Amino acid sequence: MFSKILVGVDGSECARRAFDAAVGMAKESNAKLLVLCVVQPPMVIGQRKETAARFVSILEREAKLILADYAAEAGKKGIKAETLLAKGYPAKIILYTARAEKADLIAVGSRGLGGMKGMLLGSVSSAVVQNSKVPVLVAK
Ligand SMILES: Nc1ncnc2c1ncn2[C@@H]1O[C@H](COP(=O)(O)OP(=O)(O)OP(=O)(O)O)[C@@H](O)[C@H]1O
Ligand SMILES: [Mg+2]
Repeated sequence: MFSKILVGVDGSECARRAFDAAVGMAKESNAKLLVLCVVQPPMVIGQRKETAARFVSILEREAKLILADYAAEAGKKGIKAETLLAKGYPAKIILYTARAEKADLIAVGSRGLGGMKGMLLGSVSSAVVQNSKVPVLVAK
């Protein structure tokens, strides 16, 4: 039984499957569900300072839309999910949030939006599995 489940979402199909599994487990355990989307600011973009800021604001807008979708989806399934938007390295933020929120299960997809074919895990799911102190559900 879990009391707080954190699911990381990035707009990929795998993340959706992680969310579906997390919703199922939240229902069974009567657990709180936190849905986290992390915006990773690009290293360098464009020639002007404002370009990077504009780019980040587009990414934030996208992340908000993704989270609103998930909140609505959770509502339809009878769960009240809390959504979280953060900026930084996704794996670090997922692990930090799990600790800060005292989540006792983390759910992620095995892969995300990255294009590299053939790998079982992406860099985010791999770092979460390797470094988490709590159980990790990896959806395929
Ligand atoms: N920005 C993010 N915010 C929240 N969760 C994320 C984010 N990126 C990835 N995840 C979670 O991690 C899972 C695996 O994604 P990951 O990024 O590791 O794979 P990938 O995109 O295929 O590989 P890579 O990013 O290393 O090229 C996703 O299904 C999602 O659950
Ligand atoms: Mg990725």
